[in-house]
Amino acid sequence: MKANLIAITKMVSICIFMAASTFSIAVPHANAAPDGMKIFTANCAACHAGGKNIMDPKKPIIGSKSIASIESFKAFLSKQNGKMPAYPKIVANEEALKALHAYVKTLK
Ligand code: HEC
Repeated sequence: MKANLIAITKMVSICIFMAASTFSIAVPHANAAPDGMKIFTANCAACHAGGKNIMDPKKPIIGSKSIASIESFKAFLSKQNGKMPAYPKIVANEEALKALHAYVKTLK
């Protein structure tokens, strides 16, 4: 009887171990590189869906000289421009800034 109990305890702990390892395999991307499209959707798409500009149609992202280089893009997002707010959090995160820049360059 005691041996049975030990066997059951072992099996239960093996199951818990397996469940725990499965879980860690299912969520391996906690530190994955930032996704430019997601950053764009969350911060920019409200005014710039499809790379256009609903607030000021003459100033779309597509073709903007502000996205010509990572430096010009960073400078642009660092301060407020007319009715567009500044994005200090994106500017402070080099990886996020690069991912977002790479994404806006793909807009056509
Ligand atoms: C609240 C609306 C709004 C949001 C949100 C917004 N923008 Fe803008 N954006 C504008 C407006 C308005 C302008 C025109 C600014 C001006 O008057 O110079 C502009 C201009 C721009 C330009 C320059 C276009 C040109 O004429 O050269 C770029 C590039 C740009 N936005 C990128 C972004 C990015 C990237 C994000 C997200 C991080 C973003 N914007 C979020 C409203 C917005």
